[in-house]
Amino acid sequence: RLLIIDFGSQVTQLIARRLRELSVYCEIHPFQNVTDAFLDEFAPKAVILSGGPASVIDDGSPRPPAKVFDLGVPVLGICYGQQAMMDMLGGRVERGDGTAEFGRAFVERKGDKHPDLLTGWFLDGREQVWMSHGDHVAEIAPGFEVLGTSPGAPFAITGDRDRNFYAVQFHPEVHHTPNGPTLYRNFVELAGFKGDWTMAAYKEEAIRLIREQVGDSKVICALSGGVDSSVAAILIHEAIGEQLTCVFVDHGLMRMNEAQEVVSMFREHYNLPLIHAEESDRFIGALEGVSDPEVKRKTIGGLFIDVFQHYADEIEGVKFLAQGTLYPDVIESVSFSGGPSVTIKSHHNVGGLPEKMGLKLVEPLRELFKDEVRALGRELGLPESFIGRHPFPGPGLAIRCPGEITRDKLEILRKADAVYIDQIRKHGLYDEIWQAFVAILPVRTVGVMGDGRTYDFACALRAVTSVDGMTADYYPFSHEFLGETATRIINEVRGINRVTYDITSKPPGTIEWE
Ligand code: XMP
Repeated sequence: RLLIIDFGSQVTQLIARRLRELSVYCEIHPFQNVTDAFLDEFAPKAVILSGGPASVIDDGSPRPPAKVFDLGVPVLGICYGQQAMMDMLGGRVERGDGTAEFGRAFVERKGDKHPDLLTGWFLDGREQVWMSHGDHVAEIAPGFEVLGTSPGAPFAITGDRDRNFYAVQFHPEVHHTPNGPTLYRNFVELAGFKGDWTMAAYKEEAIRLIREQVGDSKVICALSGGVDSSVAAILIHEAIGEQLTCVFVDHGLMRMNEAQEVVSMFREHYNLPLIHAEESDRFIGALEGVSDPEVKRKTIGGLFIDVFQHYADEIEGVKFLAQGTLYPDVIESVSFSGGPSVTIKSHHNVGGLPEKMGLKLVEPLRELFKDEVRALGRELGLPESFIGRHPFPGPGLAIRCPGEITRDKLEILRKADAVYIDQIRKHGLYDEIWQAFVAILPVRTVGVMGDGRTYDFACALRAVTSVDGMTADYYPFSHEFLGETATRIINEVRGINRVTYDITSKPPGTIEWE
């Protein structure tokens, strides 16, 4: 296994992701924990030193133990890791004096014979890389040679082939270093990894860690029926069985048949202890007369916490709260915490619960990206139809019903949404679309059906493509598809007599209507 020593870079997790893509098993450990004894026990086959925010020049800035360089295994230093490595091995690092580089840069090849680390690099001349550094290496350590340079980093790539020590100033793990994966592949091949690690192995390891963390304590989990909380719950259930209880807070704002499907899948198929908190009266009662989107979200969020807490209190001896937090949530909450960003929408999640209830967190998906969670879900036997489901927001249909919510409107919305999704599936478009739904509009319009006048609701269809929900584009349905869908909705759903298609991208729109 490979050891990544973390010096606090925002993108350390991406290194792990690149390695997992190469089917190499790795673990990230914060530098504080990596002692000589730890190294003996871990026995890494290779070590990567991550980037980080500190300056090597400052007193007390972090370093890996010197022993890392005596293990006889390949070492790769990245950004701060590179500088720490140079500093420790006899080179010199200087503070940036206006030569700092942030963002895209181009590295030129240096020297004529290249080590295996750079196989597949510089085939088209220079390589685009992503830099983000203030300090720079001024003198390389003895034994190292320069393998690549950029205008702001004369020692962009250096290496000592005898010892298999390599150091790069840029971040090969990020997307903006297009050939970065090749560099990682070369590095792990140098270290003798075969690339035979799998999601099945990840699952086993995650189970072991959950058991270790939880011991014989009880755990509760707020199950929403979404992919993330479902995968987290099933994984934890495999690890600790009946010590886990899930609470499914049914706010009455789910899609057609959804609550029943979730409950029966978890109870019957997975045999998981599940409390079905059927509280739709409370939620829909509290939303009566509310039309402001933020008030809706806050009302639902607050009530959700109260209801969850009420049911959780009934289970004795609970010490942990399980959450399906993913790595992107972790990066976002780190980089934006305390920042001046404006609240566009108050997202609904169970944040705040652990402090309020005095619980510790179990977050077994914290290191994973969405597609990896799906792969883990497959490993756990979740059906494909479930794993590939479009995201669904915590406040549910409430935010797809602009204006005041009524049971009638929710019923109409559920039916229209079901027809729309059925159409999308029938045309084989479901997996191409990131998210699709109907919003019922707070306007009634006049129509004519048969010989009669109608005065019913209008609805809007929404379908977007996106990678992460942060930006999105509307899906370019054919006119035939839209026409056929509009006809079906109006014919099959009483209460709707007009259908529109929303062609707003995000930004400037958002995906949901509220
Ligand atoms: P917006 O509307 O902000 O949505 O463009 C981006 C993505 O987030 C989902 N969404 C939510 N998910 N709780 C959630 O768990 C929420 O409160 C929430 N609001 C929006 C939305 O469905 C889309 O996928």
